[in-house]
Amino acid sequence: MFRRELLSIVRSNPASSGGLELVEGIEENGDITSGRAVDPATGKVYPVKNGYLDLLGSRASADNVANLTNFLPGAGPLYEPLWRVRSLTLLTGKPFPNERELEIISDLVRLDRGGRYLDLGCSAGLYTRSLAATLGDRGDVVGIDISPSMLKEAVRRARKLEATPSFTRADAENLPFADASFAGAVCGGSLNEFGDPARTLRERRRVLEPSGRVAIMGILKAKTSRGRRLQSFLSTGGVRFFEPEEVLSLLDHAGLEPDPLRTYNVVFFAGATRR
Ligand SMILES: C[S@@+](CC[C@H](N)C(=O)[O-])C[C@H]1O[C@@H](n2cnc3c(N)ncnc32)[C@H](O)[C@@H]1O
Repeated sequence: MFRRELLSIVRSNPASSGGLELVEGIEENGDITSGRAVDPATGKVYPVKNGYLDLLGSRASADNVANLTNFLPGAGPLYEPLWRVRSLTLLTGKPFPNERELEIISDLVRLDRGGRYLDLGCSAGLYTRSLAATLGDRGDVVGIDISPSMLKEAVRRARKLEATPSFTRADAENLPFADASFAGAVCGGSLNEFGDPARTLRERRRVLEPSGRVAIMGILKAKTSRGRRLQSFLSTGGVRFFEPEEVLSLLDHAGLEPDPLRTYNVVFFAGATRR
């Protein structure tokens, strides 16, 4: 689903000065569940299908092996039950339920201010759903991902919510939104998988309101030799791991003022404010 009123902040290409307009569609309480939207500046039409607005069409967009696996049909349905529910417990070596992680993210992004929030590389929508459920009618949440399988599952899971988020298939390296459209942007694990993390951070800054917030969960370089061996194997598939200083420097260079990093073994949480 995609909230109809959010079409006005969508910029399907950098030359567009206005948003999209709905050509035809089925709506439920202001959410488009299927249909077509047009960019009046270019005449290009974008479908809302399987409950999300698809701005990438036939573009495969996966730029490494790690991303390709996210395109497999089973990737979306299996991602949360097989991996995500226990991922931080496995990575930190201590019980770390999703509830605790979601609390940290909401706190770092200052969700209490309300407004529009963006989830980059949302996968099956864990952060998107949590933000939307907490915000209720005080704002809107948009989850973006390049993987159709993940987005289909994200839509399926979010349908049960009262305050439904919006989903779009879009590239975090070229965000299809007008400048200063969001109060905050979150990102869980995706910075490790983006082809050009620095670029996604600059794009995030562009779409944030002045003093907008960023909240990121990611994975640091391992300190043990076993961890380093595993990470070096994963790196061959395109996943990258960061030193703590690297995360702070990436944020700083993107025009985001970083808070001190919170670390739990190899897991980090970073908060930053748009300068
Ligand atoms: C580690 S998973 C994200 C997990 C999710 N945020 C969560 O907390 O459960 C990385 C996701 O980023 C997506 N992705 C990779 N490159 C992307 C890009 N350039 N733009 C948008 N999404 C991307 C992948 O399809 C994948 O679903």
